[in-house]
This record gives sequence, structure tokens and C-alpha cells, in this order.
Amino acid sequence: MKEVSIRIQELRSQINYHNYRYYILDDPEISDAQYDRLMRELRELEKEYPSLITSDSPTQRAGAPPSKTFDPVPHTIPMLSLGNAFDRDEVKEWMERVVRGLGATEKVGLVAEPKLDGCAVELVYEGGLFVRGSTRGDGAVGEDVTWNLKTIKDIPTWLSGKHVPNYLEVRGEVYMELGKFEQLNRKQAERGEKLFANPRNAAAGSLRQLDPKVTASRSLNIFLYDVGQIRGIELESHLKMLKALNELGLRAIGRAEFCESLEEVFEYYDKLTEEREKLAFEVDGIVLKVNRFDLRQKLGARTREPRWAIAYKFPPREEATKIIDIDVQVGRTGTLTPVAKLQPVRVGGVTISRATLHNEDQMAEKDIRMGDYVIVRRAGDVIPEVVKPIPGRRTGKERKFKMPRTCPVCSAEVIRSEGEVARRCINISCPAQVERWIKHFASRGAMDIEGIGPKLIDQLIERGLLKNVSDLYFLKKEQLIGLQRMAEKSAQNIIDAIEASKDRNLSRIIYALGIRHVGEHVARVLAEEFGTVDALIRAKLEELEGIHEIGPIVAGTVHEFFRNEGNREIIRRLKEGGVKFRPVEKVAARGKLSGVAFVFTGTLSSMSRDEAQVRVKELGGKASSSLSRKTDYLVAGTEPGSKLARAKKLGVKVINEKKFLELTE
Ligand code: IVH
Repeated sequence: MKEVSIRIQELRSQINYHNYRYYILDDPEISDAQYDRLMRELRELEKEYPSLITSDSPTQRAGAPPSKTFDPVPHTIPMLSLGNAFDRDEVKEWMERVVRGLGATEKVGLVAEPKLDGCAVELVYEGGLFVRGSTRGDGAVGEDVTWNLKTIKDIPTWLSGKHVPNYLEVRGEVYMELGKFEQLNRKQAERGEKLFANPRNAAAGSLRQLDPKVTASRSLNIFLYDVGQIRGIELESHLKMLKALNELGLRAIGRAEFCESLEEVFEYYDKLTEEREKLAFEVDGIVLKVNRFDLRQKLGARTREPRWAIAYKFPPREEATKIIDIDVQVGRTGTLTPVAKLQPVRVGGVTISRATLHNEDQMAEKDIRMGDYVIVRRAGDVIPEVVKPIPGRRTGKERKFKMPRTCPVCSAEVIRSEGEVARRCINISCPAQVERWIKHFASRGAMDIEGIGPKLIDQLIERGLLKNVSDLYFLKKEQLIGLQRMAEKSAQNIIDAIEASKDRNLSRIIYALGIRHVGEHVARVLAEEFGTVDALIRAKLEELEGIHEIGPIVAGTVHEFFRNEGNREIIRRLKEGGVKFRPVEKVAARGKLSGVAFVFTGTLSSMSRDEAQVRVKELGGKASSSLSRKTDYLVAGTEPGSKLARAKKLGVKVINEKKFLELTE
């Protein structure tokens, strides 16, 4: 049996490799007949020993043909983001909170490392084999991009080394080197395709390709810097983890340094600021992390950020260039934004030819004129902006710019409401708004309808077939055939993609509606809170304001959106068109421990504290490190700490490990 199992492993790994050569690199090493022989042998062995069949066996799935959508992948431990510090004082304040949180007696060692500007992913290795990879998504649920990640040469199919863990979730950043990014954009320009705004967008765009061959043609790298759930190895600190990852053949982030004091942190920051210009990849700051994992555990996390880490950002980069012209763009919500067309200039390794001027008040205040030399700024992940003019370089030919009184797209009236800085086109069927809205609606994080590109949207709007997003669900194949570049097959694909999108869950639909200030995270919070779209429509302003994580401004725009009869009509039509408004599955609230809060103290004999916490979360419960009246159970292992006495004081129920195992069985 053991020998069979080894042979099966061997065959699977060979077949996976050849799938990769064939489907992704387009460069097979063996003939079809040879490949078929491997497959046949594997099938026969699996038929004889069905207990050895695993869901990831190549017999259980096809190679990697392009897929229509990405499957959702819930993260067993949420992928958090990081809080930011922009100066030394903010770093000091964070450090004070850390020290306070740990009790002043602990000495806290930190690790400083570069903050990469790419796309966060999680890789899962089972028994040493790379089985799954996903994007961060909204932190709770990501997208399955396994086959795309397989095209990245830094990601080994098998772990190597002496101590391969049974199960490993490892996290890091997929990024594109600056040189590769410029090369890609040159190619995109030659082919008349869309340019990427920065290396981060290029990395994310390349990773989220439905056809892995496209990803394979882009040059991506990965640096790993964190782990999720692990079984079969014990890791006590960040530095030990990075070392262990390297020993497993994984590419752990480089330039990580231990810092004993904030002085050392600031030295590291200054050193990296200088080095930054020479690095092949984009770094937008440093990340500071408490080194020891037990201390991290003690500190815990806030809703979206751990308390044990912080990003200390670099100042944005600036350059001087000339404004050639000023365009006015109309956004999804009708907002008119002045955008400067620039003489192309390189800012921190990236060429910029457009930058936002925000709004007319800012332009007037800064006195920015057409033809001016200006300072432009690029901060890692935001759109480049014009900071200020350089009046000393004026020749007298510069001209003041006036915002148009009518919409540059539909010529409708443009208004500026009381208290708002922006002018807005009031025509809700303004093609610019409709176009952008539909584009947003169909985009990946939203309804994810493949093939609905700007050209198609334009044509459909022109023909009056699309007045708002709900019209998508009433399109007929015959209406599509005959449009430019639209044959029977592509029309069918679009109809199929629209059909598939009817299944999207409420959270995505809320996001897709494009309500001002409602991003993916807020959409998820609303979906979880209200459960159905009707409940959300009925929500009173106070109810919205009462939700944790939703501020008054967001509550206001959400409320206003659903008060609008036109918008409610759109929801009705979406339903009529077949959109199911599937309720979201609460990642952390499905199981039998739904809503039950656990805290642990002391040592458990059958599993580590991490494992116990994961178990609780998998069953829908909450596991936290701080005890309060809201805690349902304190699980006391051997040698419990001071929490035991506190639990008794607070009246929190204390249970032992045996009882815990019964509860979680
Ligand atoms: S640690 C819970 N380390 O920055 C902490 N993140 O702004 C998990 N990032 O979502 C993140 N470089 O995508 C960590 N050295 C680094 C990083 C890093 C870049 C990204 C990561 C995260 C985002 C937060």
C-alpha cells in the first residue's frame, strides 16, 4: 500500500507538471500519448485503491483551461490589513500602545521589513504540495487564483527541506519589478491596450486573469511575510518563521531586521529610504512587527488591523513637469473632475502623463494654470495628483482654467450643491455616468461579468439598450449579434456571463450598485447586518448610523441612495431580471459555535492555542485574547495565568480542555 501511495504521488506530481507545461507555458515536454499513459496509470491505481483518491488529484479535475470566474476561497484566519503611521510620533504612539498592551515589564523586540506595493495572496501547502492559492479579497473571502500562482517561478510546487509541515498557509505579496512593469506597458501601448497605472495594478491585473496563460506571460515575483494556520511545525517568532520559510524553499521577504529600540527602527527607515531608489521593485514604506508570536497573541487584533504591526509609510514622491492641457472627466456619480495632461515624467520609476487636480476650489486656491510647470506627486496606491505650481517658471502665456457650466459628455446642466466642492452633472442618464456605472457594476469585485468592456457598453448605450445596470438582465442574444466585433459565439458568452452573475451574493450586489463611499468592506458589513436587500432598503438612518464600522457620512449616502425612487426601481428590475440577491454566508458565523466567544489561558495538551482558536473560528465562534463580560467561556489549560481569577470575578464560565473538546467535536 505504501508503495502504491508513493507511485500515486509521483504520478500526480508529474501530471501536474505536464499540465503546467501544456496549458500554461504552452510548451509541452512530452507527447500526448506519453501524457495519456501517465493519466491512465494513475486512474487505474485510483480505481484499485479508491481510499487514496484526493480531491486535488489531476484525475478529479481538468488541467487549467481558462475559467469564467474565480471561485471564492474563505480564509480560515482573516487576512488583515495594516494601520498606518506617517511620522515618528505616530510610530512612537503605536509603540506606547504595544508596551501598554503587554504590561510594561515585557521587553518588546521588533522586526522591520520593507512594505511591498503589490497584491496580497495566501498559498496553502498540504503535505508539502502547493494545493491552493487565493487573493486577499475582502480579507474574509478571497478568489481562487491557484493556476495563475503556479505560473510564478518563485512559488514551488513542492516544499523542500527537512521539516515539511503537514499543513501550511503562508502569505505574501505578489509584485512586478519596475523594469518588467515598464516593459509590459510598452507592449500594451503597442497593442493599443489599456496601460496600467502602476506596478501594483499591473501585478493585481496579471494575477486576476481568467486565462493562466496571460499570467504566465507576465513576469511576477513573490515575497512571503506571514503565516496563517499551520500544523506540524512550531514557530515562535517572525524571524524564525522567515528562516523556516526559506528552508522550505519559499521566498521569504528579504531585508528583515531585528530592532531593539525605536532608534534602530528610525535608522532602518532612513537606510531603506535611500536604498529605495535602487531597488528593482516598488516599496512604499516599512512594516514594523512584534517579533515574538506569544506577544502578538497577547496583543490581538482590532477589526481590520492587528495591534502588533504597523506600516510606517514613506513620504510620497514628487517631480516637476508641465501641464499641457486640462480635461474634465465625469465620474460614476456625475462628479466633474479636472485632470491635468502632463508632459510625461518619471516619478519613482513610473512614468506619469495624467494627474488629478481634484476640484475647482483646490485649483483656485493653489492657482494652477494651463501651461504651468507644476509639482506632481505619486503616493504608492493613489492616483497621481498635482500638488502646486512653480510660479517662478511662468512665461506669461499660462491661462486660467474655468470649469464648464455644462457636462462635457451630455451637455446637461451642471450643479454645485451647498457645501460640496464638486460640480455634478444632474442627468442620471448621462452616458458618462451610465457607462462608468455599468463598468463598475460588471467589474471583478462586483458582479464580475466578463466581456462587458467599454466599447460594448458604448454601443449598447447608443442604441438605447442600456439605460441603467438593470437593463443588462433583459438583453437578448439577437440584440448583441451584429454589434461591432460581436459574433454568435461571443454574444452567447456574454449572455452566459450575465446569467452567471445572477448568483452573486448580496454583498457584491451592494458594492456593484456603486453607492458613494460604499467599498467592498462596507458592502459586506451591510449585507451581513441586514441579510436581505429589502431590509436594507427599509433601514432607517439611525439604524445605519448605529452599525459599528459605518460612520455618519456613509450611513447618509446609503440612506439617500435607497430613498431615491429611481434606484429602488432599479432594484425591482434587477429582481425581475432574475438576480437572486443571495444572502452572504457569514464566514465566521456558520457553525455550531456561532456567536460564542472563547478566551484561552494556560497550555492545552492536545493542540496549540493557535489551533484551538482556529477550531473555534471554523465553527463560527469568536476567539479573542482579551477577557471581558462578553466572553462566554474561558478555557483553562495547565498552568493557567491571571485570566482565571479575572474570569471568576467577571462571572465568566471556566471550562477545561476536555469540555472544550466536547464542545468543538
Ligand atoms: S504583514 C496582519 N508585511 O500591506 C499583517 N504586509 O497595508 C499582515 N504588505 O495587506 C500583513 N508588505 O498586502 C505585511 N512586509 C509586509 C508587507 C505587507 C506589504 C501589504 C499586505 C497588507 C497591506 C496592508
